[in-house]
Amino acid sequence: MTELTPLHGKRILLIIGGGIAAYKTLELIRRLADKGVRVRAIMTKAAHEFVTPLSVSSLTGEKVYTDLFDLTDEAEMGHIQLSRDADLLLVAPATADLMARMVAGMANDLATTALLATDKPVMVAPAMNVRMWEHKATQRNIAQLTQDGVGFIGPDDGNMACGEFGPGRLSETPDIIAALENHFSAATGPLAGRHILVTSGPTHEPIDPVRYLANRSSGKQGHAIAGSLASLGAQVTLVAGPTAQPTPQGVKIVHVETAREMLAACQTALPADGVICAAAVADWRVVQDAEQKMKKGPDGVPALALTENPDILAIISQLPKGQRPALVVGFAAETEKIIEHATAKLARKKCDWLVANDVSPASGVMGGDMNTVHVLSATGRDDWPQLSKTEVADRLARKVADYFSTSSHH
Ligand code: C5P
Repeated sequence: MTELTPLHGKRILLIIGGGIAAYKTLELIRRLADKGVRVRAIMTKAAHEFVTPLSVSSLTGEKVYTDLFDLTDEAEMGHIQLSRDADLLLVAPATADLMARMVAGMANDLATTALLATDKPVMVAPAMNVRMWEHKATQRNIAQLTQDGVGFIGPDDGNMACGEFGPGRLSETPDIIAALENHFSAATGPLAGRHILVTSGPTHEPIDPVRYLANRSSGKQGHAIAGSLASLGAQVTLVAGPTAQPTPQGVKIVHVETAREMLAACQTALPADGVICAAAVADWRVVQDAEQKMKKGPDGVPALALTENPDILAIISQLPKGQRPALVVGFAAETEKIIEHATAKLARKKCDWLVANDVSPASGVMGGDMNTVHVLSATGRDDWPQLSKTEVADRLARKVADYFSTSSHH
């Protein structure tokens, strides 16, 4: 029986790479078919070593595309059309080699040509030996593909066919299907068609070429908010200071270092329907950072003259009507008198909501996984219980969606 899920009626171009996990795609094709997905498959040359085109085509009910220079294929269905006819391209298993070729923009077989020619979303489910996964070259390629907007599914940790243990196992079929469902449900989610700008992470303010002023923000909360908004269908631009957080799926990331770069990136990203300023922007920067490394010397300790950074939240909140996003949300990290300080901040910055949280060292919020917040607005205050940062993000994203679904904000 076909279940009606977000996958029903979707067309997926499955690109099967050459890895031992390729056999698992046979099960994946069957489960996708159960969900009403029409699957077409391309197999790389290496994939033929692990599964036969005959098995794949028996399950997809379609011919399998294998060779770029097959003249009959090109006459029936060109490689461009093949990649455009789908709603999404899924690479599974994505081998280290295939990902490297995607990064390089190569088109030296049908699989990479379809990936280069497509204008559709691309998701990859990697599978490889743990050392290959951890290799710097592969990690560089993952970072680049993420930057290019490619979505990652897995890999899982576990025992590998090669006898080693660690990350590199192809995600389980239900997890791949769940990731695809998430992708397609976002397209019809309550925030579909809304552009939301999120700032996250700390900023680094240079003192000289090797030193900077910074703070302890990890970017966990801001990145989680960006991810939650995207999963409700928003088009999200995440302007992020230096953090180790992975880019959430489906989010456009802009990396910055300083407050002034963050402001410029936000201005470039506007217009937006909503802005969530979750970054811990440095309040001050050094008036003039030194061109050369500052040296210890007989003249004693240097004095650092500081000057104020632009207040991104206040600037966006006070944009003229027409340019100002409909909903502007600020954060207030406080170590004492949380509500009192946050109430004053809401008024001073002129944002619509202010999410206040206790970041005193005893709270463990900075860098930790939990957060206790109060959401203040002109109409009152919501006290949320202690939640994980992911739960805070989901709840805030739903509140944003509710705000936009009320008729007065259309
Ligand atoms: O004044 P304070 O730094 O406590 O305000 C915090 C809020 O203002 C946060 O939402 C933060 O992202 C934003 N902010 C900003 N630019 C600054 C300072 C703070 O956007 N320069």
